[in-house]
Amino acid sequence: MERFPFDHAEVVAVAEAACGRALRLREVTSRRGAVVWDVTGPEGRVAVKVGSGDGEAAVSREAAVLQELDVPDHLVASGRGTDNSWLVTRWFEGPSTWDAFARFRESGTGRTEGIETAAELCEAVATTLHDRGWVHGDLHPDHGIHTSGGVRLIDLAWTWREGLRPPPVTGVGIDHFVPPELALRGAGDLPLAGGAAADVYTLAATVWTCATGCRPLDYAAAGITPERLTSDQLRARIAAGRIPLRTEEPWPELQSVLRQVLLSGPHDRPSARDLAHSLIRLAS
Ligand SMILES: Nc1ncnc2c1ncn2[C@@H]1O[C@H](COP(=O)(O)OP(=O)(O)OP(=O)(O)O)[C@@H](O)[C@H]1O
Ligand SMILES: [Mg+2]
Repeated sequence: MERFPFDHAEVVAVAEAACGRALRLREVTSRRGAVVWDVTGPEGRVAVKVGSGDGEAAVSREAAVLQELDVPDHLVASGRGTDNSWLVTRWFEGPSTWDAFARFRESGTGRTEGIETAAELCEAVATTLHDRGWVHGDLHPDHGIHTSGGVRLIDLAWTWREGLRPPPVTGVGIDHFVPPELALRGAGDLPLAGGAAADVYTLAATVWTCATGCRPLDYAAAGITPERLTSDQLRARIAAGRIPLRTEEPWPELQSVLRQVLLSGPHDRPSARDLAHSLIRLAS
């Protein structure tokens, strides 16, 4: 068996209990102090996420969220090592939202499937989180996995509800996907309804990106080169709210629905479920 490169006895025991012995490990990502492995055995498959250094607090926060949120068949176990925190979740089989739109991006076909994909992502955010008083806080094209049993939302390190707020810092979420009203604030400074409205903006930006292959804001038109700015500088420009949306229109009907969301203030945005319904109407 390959070895996890950290103090691993407890994690291996958990993974073996879930997957059987003779585990196979594949490192999926390693960034910002968190490493994710795809772990497979004869009886199952799990995701193992270990945070150390800067990533330790985020992974232990995600474990606390998963325990509180208690989504069926999601968290297997979590704990702390000497200098890390870890969590083991079920492995969700299926394409990410980004992958699910590959056919449309590459050939312009598969619109019905694309709309269903987008709508089921929005509906999952409504059902799993917003209906229950939770906010995701870090939605993006890789954080929805479209399984045969529905969409599973992953990477819940910044997910919160009243009483279990994210740290009141900016920098949560991807700069390009934060709504103007959140760009200069910490997600924890928002009221719950404001957090849900921010998720809806990010959902629209996510679907736009998956469908068009480009993030929605037209930085060039605003004279901005994001790569030359720090995150704080870019967020200050986003907060000012004067960056237009990109004008390429590979899918005008879909982009028209998303554009309305992206140009709305937080109080005028639809709910995630209403957005799902507007998307589904495009298919009929
Ligand atoms: N339970 C799971 N099932 C399937 N794939 C998963 C699962 N957990 C993680 N992954 C894969 O690993 C990737 C990284 O996981 P995750 O987003 O939780 O980690 P991260 O290090 O916090 O990433 P980010 O850079 O977005 O903060 C995901 O985009 C996905 O491809
Ligand atoms: Mg992630």
